[in-house]
Amino acid sequence: MKITIINGPNLNLLGSRETNIYGSQNFETYLDSLRTSFPKIIIEYFQSNIEGEIINKIHESKEFDGIILNAAAYTHTSIGIADAVKSIDCKVVEVHISNTFSREEYRHNSFLSPVVDGIIIGFGLDSYRLGIESLIN
Ligand code: DQA
Repeated sequence: MKITIINGPNLNLLGSRETNIYGSQNFETYLDSLRTSFPKIIIEYFQSNIEGEIINKIHESKEFDGIILNAAAYTHTSIGIADAVKSIDCKVVEVHISNTFSREEYRHNSFLSPVVDGIIIGFGLDSYRLGIESLIN
């Protein structure tokens, strides 16, 4: 089984960015622990701050059995990413580190939630692990 994690804008700064919200662990370190927890799964990782690059990555979905998608701020703005998700057959799980519903109102809307297979929100970095669990079960 091969899955990809797609992280959107500013998530390259995890570990130093707003640590009160996102924690102090960087994603690469967390990714190592994820790969150790799921030794039979190939976990690819892609991060971009650019909307079109995220859309291009989603278009590569035929290579994957599932996508874990944290589109970060684009979650709340991007019809383009939502259309990309609609255009593929691959299972997509939307994840968020923080509980977006307990934050500013503009984070309550997600253009992705209506078009993904499932949503995991607010469990810190563990949201990604739970997303993978949902793809393999
Ligand atoms: C986020 C929540 C978004 O509102 C925010 O713009 C992010 C990260 C999360 O994982 O909690 O960059 O997607």
